[in-house]
Order: sequence, then structure tokens, then C-alpha cells
Amino acid sequence: MCRSGYQEPLAEEVRAAAARQGRRGWAAEAGSGWVAVRGLPPGPLPAPLRAPLIFERQRLPMARWFPLVDTAATSEPLAAWLAERLAAGLARPDATWCLHAYAPETSVPGSLEAGARRLGMALLRALGERWPALGQRRRTPEAVAAAGSGWVAQACVVAGGVWAAAGALGSLSDRFPGGVHRMRPDPQAPSRSYLKIEEALELMGTPPLPRERVVDLGAAPGGWSYAFLKRGCRVLAVDNGPLKIRGLEELPGQLTHLREDGLTFRPDAEWVPVDWLAADMLIAPGAALGLIRRWLAGGWLRRFIVNIKLPQRHPLVALAPIQEHLRGVPGCRFRLRHLYHDRREVTLMGTAEPQPGAPRRPVHRRPHRTEPHRAPHPTARGSAPPGRPGPGAPARRAPTTRGPEPRGAPRNVRRRRGR
Ligand SMILES: C[S@@+](CC[C@H](N)C(=O)[O-])C[C@H]1O[C@@H](n2cnc3c(N)ncnc32)[C@H](O)[C@@H]1O
Repeated sequence: MCRSGYQEPLAEEVRAAAARQGRRGWAAEAGSGWVAVRGLPPGPLPAPLRAPLIFERQRLPMARWFPLVDTAATSEPLAAWLAERLAAGLARPDATWCLHAYAPETSVPGSLEAGARRLGMALLRALGERWPALGQRRRTPEAVAAAGSGWVAQACVVAGGVWAAAGALGSLSDRFPGGVHRMRPDPQAPSRSYLKIEEALELMGTPPLPRERVVDLGAAPGGWSYAFLKRGCRVLAVDNGPLKIRGLEELPGQLTHLREDGLTFRPDAEWVPVDWLAADMLIAPGAALGLIRRWLAGGWLRRFIVNIKLPQRHPLVALAPIQEHLRGVPGCRFRLRHLYHDRREVTLMGTAEPQPGAPRRPVHRRPHRTEPHRAPHPTARGSAPPGRPGPGAPARRAPTTRGPEPRGAPRNVRRRRGR
């Protein structure tokens, strides 16, 4: 399954994977929000299909199609089919299962979601009444996701029918129904982009730690920087635009704002390797590749999260050189995914090990001083990130970079300007 509208790139990914395996037998049939892969060999999945594909949200292994005429008529045979598969899978007496009933995400939410909810309730009722032993072992999707094991019955409602499957949680591409990671908004976060970085961090599974060093390229208005700051990281935010992070008075030494070009920015010697490179600039995929190539070759980072804006057409053609390059970098592990909170963009997440012989120390200019950001404050009384006392104090309206320099302002804010 994928977000509706992305089935063609997903089908292309399947075909490209087949070509890499030298297989001609696989066929990828695309519907709205889904791609059916036919002709796979029996047994374990071929290597290029084991990890989730870029545009894949969820997978239904060994799926079966049920036409959807009305909920009652479809839920009866579907419940019987799922019960048979669940009974076979739940051999261990302590094994549990859950139901994921969902519809692929569309830009116009509507009747498919409502149909999925109705079908889900009808299936749970039928399974509980007719197979009480199964009913007793049912848990919520959240409980099975948290346990990290169990069986999952899936019913994905699409135009004209339902794709159904039942299998171990580990055979899915995501622990949550439909691969939806709806992150909780934070009222203090200065932008919607905050949700993207939260989702990426959740997927990576290695939370940023206090005092870790973060370079955030294309940082304004500051959603990504805020996500790292609230975890106690030290952030170097690079953008010519203004940051709108509230409660900065409470973050002395944690944030530096540099008005520089993120594409040519080089971290100073004291900061490499940075613990996190975060980049969310409005740049072409080719420029994003140039950036990540330079940072990896320099040995300047340990982990990276780079948002890549997709071109209007042929997204895979634009993404292929990035994947090809990263596959060839020793010690680099990466994932490229169309996240739930991504729009016409995908997120590249990864880790890097220092490469032998890589020049680890870039030209030394001046140490980055992690002093409070002093750009004009948007709110007179902002509140601080969670876990910190509210600033309470009236915001200082700091001079702009054109006016007289504030005493103690970071030199790099004052002097290093322009893209
Ligand atoms: C989508 S916004 C970033 C949103 C940000 N991640 C957040 O969470 O609030 C893109 C930003 O990239 C910046 N940008 C674009 N090209 C840039 C460049 N070459 N160097 C630095 N910043 C750049 C823009 O000024 C803009 O603020």
C-alpha cells in the first residue's frame, strides 16, 4: 500500500527490484493507493523486496482480494478466511493478534476510511462471536505494536474491494495500521515540519541525546531545530530566514543561528563529526546528493536526516543516483522513505561510520559558539519547550543584523552572511 497517487512510482520500484534480481516473472499491477505484486517465487521474499520500498506504507503478504459490495455481505466470508489463517498462525497458546482495518491515505479523506471503519467493526464482531477462542486472544493494534510480536489480520479497503491478509507482525513493513505514524503536534513547535522530523526520529529508533551536536541546514522557521533543542541537543541552525522558536531565553548556549548558504556550509573542526546532520532545504535532489556526498566524504557526520523534495515527474529517476551513491559508501546505512508526514518529498535517514583516510578535519576557521539565537523575537512572551520553565520575561527585541551588533552576539551571526 502507498499514499494514493504514488502507486506508479511504487510499481516502478517493484519492477526495478525485479530487474536487479534478473527476474522477468514479477508483475506489478497498480490500483489507487496499492500495487499488487504477482508471480513471486514461493518461500522467503527475494532480497530487494525484504526491506520496505521508498513509497511503500504497508504490505499485505499473500494477500487475497474480496470484492466489496456491502459490509455485511463481505465481512462474513472475509472473517472466515481470516479466522482460518489466524488459527494456523496462533499455534503458541500465548500468541496474540490484532486487526488493522484501514484505507490508503488520499488527499481527500472520505468514504473509504468510513468503509474501513465499518468493515473493521463487522469483522471484530464476527470473529468474536463465531470464534470465541480467537476473540479472547485479540489485542489492540497499539498493544501488538508495543509488544513487537503477534499476528496481524489486515483489511485494506480500496475502490471496489478489500485486500486482506494475516501474518506475523514481522512480515509487515510497518507496525501500525496502514503504516500511519501520526505524530502528536506540539503547540510550541514553530512549523508543521516538526512532525516530519519527529516521525523520522521515531523510525530511526535512536533518540537524540542531551548535548549532542546538530547541524540543521534550511532551519527556518525552526521546527526541526526545536525537536532537537527540546531533547537538550546543541543546534547550529543555518538559514537566511528568521527562526521563530519561542522560549529561547531559556536555552543559553544551545542554539546558534548562522545566516549562511546551507549548500556550501562547512562545520568547524570542533564540531566534527556532528552527531546529526538535519537538512530540509528547498533544493533539487541532485543538490541534496551533492550535499550528502560532501558530508560523508569529509567524515563530518554520524547520523543524517535529509528531506528530499521530489520533482513533478519521475521521482525514482531523481532518487536513483542518491541510492546508488549511498550503496557504495563503506559503513553507510540508510533508508529512503515516503513518510506519513511527508508531502511531495521523501526522507533520507542514515548512519555513517568514519571512512579510513577521510579528511576528518575541515579547514579551521573559527569555533562555532553556541550562544543564544538573537534574531528578532516573534512573540513577546513565548513559552519554553516542554520540560523547561516558561520564559515569563518579556522578549528582548534584538537588533537585526543590519543594525549595530549586540554585545556578545555570536560573531558567526554577525559576519557570515549571504548565500
Ligand atoms: C521547508 S523550509 C524548512 C523548514 C524547517 N525544517 C522547519 O522545521 O521549520 C526550507 C528552508 O530552507 C531554506 N533554504 C533554502 N535553500 C537554502 C540554502 N541554500 N541554504 C540555507 N537555507 C536554505 C529556506 O530559507 C527555508 O527556510
